[in-house]
Amino acid sequence: MALKAILAGLGGRGFHWFEQCRKHAGTEVVAAVEPNAERRALAIKQFGLKESQLFNSLEEAIKGAKADFVLDVTPPAVHRKVAEAAFKAGLHVLGEKPLSDNMTDARAVVKAGEKAGLKHMITQNYRFSAPPRTTRKLIEHNAIGAIGQCDVRFYRPWADHPGSHYVTEPYMFINDMMVHHFDMMRYVLGLNPLNVVAHTWNHSWGWHKGDAAHAIVFEFEGGVHGTHTAVGCEVGEQTNWNGDWFISGSKGSITWTLDAIRRQYLHKANPQVREEVTPLAVPDVSQAILDEFAAAIAEDREPECSSADNVHSLAMALAAIRSAKEGRKVRIDEM
Ligand SMILES: NC(=O)c1ccc[n+]([C@@H]2O[C@H](COP(=O)([O-])OP(=O)(O)OC[C@H]3O[C@@H](n4cnc5c(N)ncnc54)[C@H](O)[C@@H]3O)[C@@H](O)[C@H]2O)c1
Repeated sequence: MALKAILAGLGGRGFHWFEQCRKHAGTEVVAAVEPNAERRALAIKQFGLKESQLFNSLEEAIKGAKADFVLDVTPPAVHRKVAEAAFKAGLHVLGEKPLSDNMTDARAVVKAGEKAGLKHMITQNYRFSAPPRTTRKLIEHNAIGAIGQCDVRFYRPWADHPGSHYVTEPYMFINDMMVHHFDMMRYVLGLNPLNVVAHTWNHSWGWHKGDAAHAIVFEFEGGVHGTHTAVGCEVGEQTNWNGDWFISGSKGSITWTLDAIRRQYLHKANPQVREEVTPLAVPDVSQAILDEFAAAIAEDREPECSSADNVHSLAMALAAIRSAKEGRKVRIDEM
C-alpha cells in the first residue's frame, strides 16, 4: 500500500515533489500545507487537489488527514518546526535540504527523530545522479589507487529570480546550493572533512546580496584535500549542475567534464589508460529518493542521507561560511 504524505510547502520545489509522488507507485500526497492563498489556489488548479486537502498549518493537516509521513518542502528556517511537529504526531519525515540554516536546530531535529524512532531522510538529490554513483564505485574498486585530492569547479547563473530568499539572504549560495556539492564530495570520497578555509566575494555584475563566488579548501580524513571554486553569477560558459570534477589518485585521475566521466593513468603507466567511463544506469534522482525512503521504512533501517548522516554535509557548508566570515581555518568539530 502506498505511503500517505502531507506535503508541507507549495513553492516551486513543493510542486516538483507533488508530481514526483504522483509518478511514484509507493507514495501518495493526501494533504498539503501552505500559508500562501495564491499558491494554494494554484495547487488546486494545477493538480486537482480539493479545498478539504489544503491546510494553513501542519498541526491542522495532521488532525485532518491520515498520513504516514511529512514531505517538508518549506524554507530552511522552518525545517525544525515542521520535523518536530511531525515526529510528535508519529510521522516519518522526508525533508528538503539543507537540513537547517543552523547547527543547533539541525542537531535538535536529529535527536528528536531518533528519540521518536522515526525515519528522517534529507533529499540530497545530486548524489543519486550517474557521475557520483559511478565514481564512488570506481574509487571503491581502487580504480585510481589512493586518493589525494578532489577539485570541483562550478560556474552558473544561479538563482536569478529577483526578490527570492536565495537572492536576498546572505551566504545562500553556499548553504543552499553548495551543500549538494559538499555532500557529493563526502559521498564520492567516502570520507568526512576535518577542517575548512574559505574565501568568498561578490562580482560587480552579480545580483545576490550575499557572496556568490568563492574558493574553499577542505581537509578530509586521511590527508585527502578537496577544493571548491565557484561563481554563482556566471554569465559566460557554464558547467553542468554537478560541476566539473578532477580527482587525483596515486594510479591516475577520474574527471567529469559536463558530466562525461574519464579515467586516465599516463605518467610512467604501463599500459597507459585513457578511458571514457560508461556511467551506471540510474533511475531519476527524485524517484530514487522516494524508493530509498520507502525501503528504509519497510525494512526498518536508516535511510541513505538520514539526518544523522546529513548533519556532516550541513556542517561543511556552515563551517565554510564561518571561515569566510572570521577569516580563519575552522575545524568541523567546532560546529
Ligand atoms: N534539492 C533541490 O535540488 C532543491 C531545489 C530547489 C529547492 N530546494 C529546497 O526546497 C525548499 C523549498 O524551496 P522553494 O524554492 O520551493 O522555496 P519557496 O520559497 O519557493 O517555497 C516555500 C513555500 O513554503 C511555504 N511555507 C513557509 N512556511 C511554511 C510552513 N510553516 N508550512 C508550510 N509551508 C510553508 C511558503 O509560503 C512557500 O510557498 C528549500 O529548502 C530549498 O533549499 C531543493
